[in-house]
Amino acid sequence: MALTLWRRWTTHGGDALLKLGCCYFPEHWPEEMWANDARRMREMGLSLVRIGEFAWSRIEPNPGQFDWGWLDRAIDTLADAGMDVMLCTPTATPPKCLVDQMPDMVAIDEKGRPRSFGSRRHYCFSHQGYRAQSRRITCAVAERYGEHPAIVAWQTDNEYGCHDTVLSFSEAAAVAFREWCKTRYGTIEALNTAWGNVFWSMEYRSFDEIDPPHLTVTEANPSHWLDYRRFASDEVVSFNAEQVAILREHSPGRDVTHNFMGFFTEFDHYDVGADLDVATWDSYPLGFLEQFWFSDEEKRAYFRQGHPDIAAFHHDLYRGCSDGRWGIIEQQPGPVNWARFNPAPLDGMVALWTLEAMAHGAEFVSYFRWRQAPFAQEQMHAGLLRPDSADAPAADEARLVRDVIGQIGEQTHTQAKVALVFSYEAAWVCGIQPQGQSFRYLELVYEWYSALRRRGLDVDIVSAGVALDGYSAVFIPTLPIVPDGFAEKLGALTCPVLIGPRSGSKSASLTIPDNLAPGALEDLLDLKVTRVESLRNNISYIGNGFSVSRWLEEVLTEQAPEFAINDGRGVVFVNGNLRYCAVWPDRSLLDLLVERIAGKVGLDLLTLPEGIRIRRSASHLFAFNYSAHAVDVSGFGLGEPVVGSAQMAPAATSIWTIA
Ligand code: GAL
Repeated sequence: MALTLWRRWTTHGGDALLKLGCCYFPEHWPEEMWANDARRMREMGLSLVRIGEFAWSRIEPNPGQFDWGWLDRAIDTLADAGMDVMLCTPTATPPKCLVDQMPDMVAIDEKGRPRSFGSRRHYCFSHQGYRAQSRRITCAVAERYGEHPAIVAWQTDNEYGCHDTVLSFSEAAAVAFREWCKTRYGTIEALNTAWGNVFWSMEYRSFDEIDPPHLTVTEANPSHWLDYRRFASDEVVSFNAEQVAILREHSPGRDVTHNFMGFFTEFDHYDVGADLDVATWDSYPLGFLEQFWFSDEEKRAYFRQGHPDIAAFHHDLYRGCSDGRWGIIEQQPGPVNWARFNPAPLDGMVALWTLEAMAHGAEFVSYFRWRQAPFAQEQMHAGLLRPDSADAPAADEARLVRDVIGQIGEQTHTQAKVALVFSYEAAWVCGIQPQGQSFRYLELVYEWYSALRRRGLDVDIVSAGVALDGYSAVFIPTLPIVPDGFAEKLGALTCPVLIGPRSGSKSASLTIPDNLAPGALEDLLDLKVTRVESLRNNISYIGNGFSVSRWLEEVLTEQAPEFAINDGRGVVFVNGNLRYCAVWPDRSLLDLLVERIAGKVGLDLLTLPEGIRIRRSASHLFAFNYSAHAVDVSGFGLGEPVVGSAQMAPAATSIWTIA
């Protein structure tokens, strides 16, 4: 079989035909079923299959004794049917013998309890013995299959951090953290000063005295927590990098990826992404709607669809984590098993989610999983097939998408006009020191993102490290710690920039800067934040057309505010092309700000009907109806769509050709 390498493209040009795929577990099924499964995958329009991520106990049934026969035959069977294979390293599920050999390899949770064997992800990223095992098994699979013509890509491990597993408070982690601190600070005096350890007599005499910040009587020092989070993130990065290096050595020319999760900020995905060719993520819109902060009203309105920005937010976020190359490796095909409630998607949603990924530039969308397993933890999780092998409803939707891809062909994507700056460190700072329990970083960023998407704008979510000068407008929901060089970069921009509350309010070690907030941005904004307060969500102050709750800053400045609340307190201040928003803006204030900013630079805004979202490639405009009722979008004035209709049924996708 010829080696098919995916086309490389970036947000700045290039093209790709969306591939469809599925996650398959040959080890779960009798070998006699494999060939028919592979044939049916092809018939459904799938050409990519991910395998192997949890198969360690079958690959190495006894320490040092490998059984490759079944995996050789599984890969060959899939390849013979014309499937490209993404093979995974199986390190998310260390087998029992390893845990028995090295009982201290398991992670320790914040309450000091070991994460026992019997599910998955029970290892500690810092355990050197487990690191050696991870390299050994990665080497073994990479040597065996690295040059196999059917292997087009590798996935490292599976969902780093799933089930709350980034932070470990083990002895191995404590030892590694002390070394990390030594490298960062050089002397213990420097660390004591940076953290402010004179407070409560927390001073250390040597790095050896430092422990992880858990099990303290009341909260540990926030500076200690921030460094522990940075350290834990670096441990994930280096664990991944070790596997990537081995895979690159033994499997040249293949893409390496890792599957990221939704609404997950426990490690810096930009740092992990820097070592990958392609970022992938696992898209479960209904589970995410149920598990996260959405209001009861939103949970009711979208329970079979997911909130209209959930999937798009992650597409745009992860596109920025790996130089523009990304895909979905696990797409929800029906009810999942792990949320508080697990409804079935509305008919059409699986196709809609898949085409929306295409509209945002995905290289592939793969469904989790091929067939629902009748046993073990995920027996209630739907697949493309039912446990009895009959088609589940999602199978027909995959076929439909196959046909649409055939019809509209390769899609080219270019940089969006609007950038939204996302920072994992900002998420950690807000989590460690929220100061008001509803100051949630992800929710703040998501609200800003939604405000842009409701008006029909395409958005790139980017790290603070990238060049911002190609954008027409830049939005920074908050950046408490301003990275070195960032203020200069902002100062050089001529486009409108909206900077959110708490930006510049902390030093790199999570202390208040000498000049107070906005710290490093003070000269650019010409104001000083002299006091902050957090408010209950149901206490609000009214302004002209908006209200303010959750977060309110007192600002000292000579400038007249652009927006104020009724008692005269300014909430938004403009300095040249830069705006500072000193509150948690509600949707109305965000709308006003988006209108002002778009107006300045001539960005066309639409007012999309409730539940409708759009996205453009270079050749097509895609519209998605997330609402549970029909919506007429003929007002877009685009004429007849090439796919679907301007009278959009619930969960419908319509696609227009654009010049
Ligand atoms: C993901 C995970 C898969 C499977 C899936 C179920 O988090 O990577 O292995 O558990 O969820 O929805």
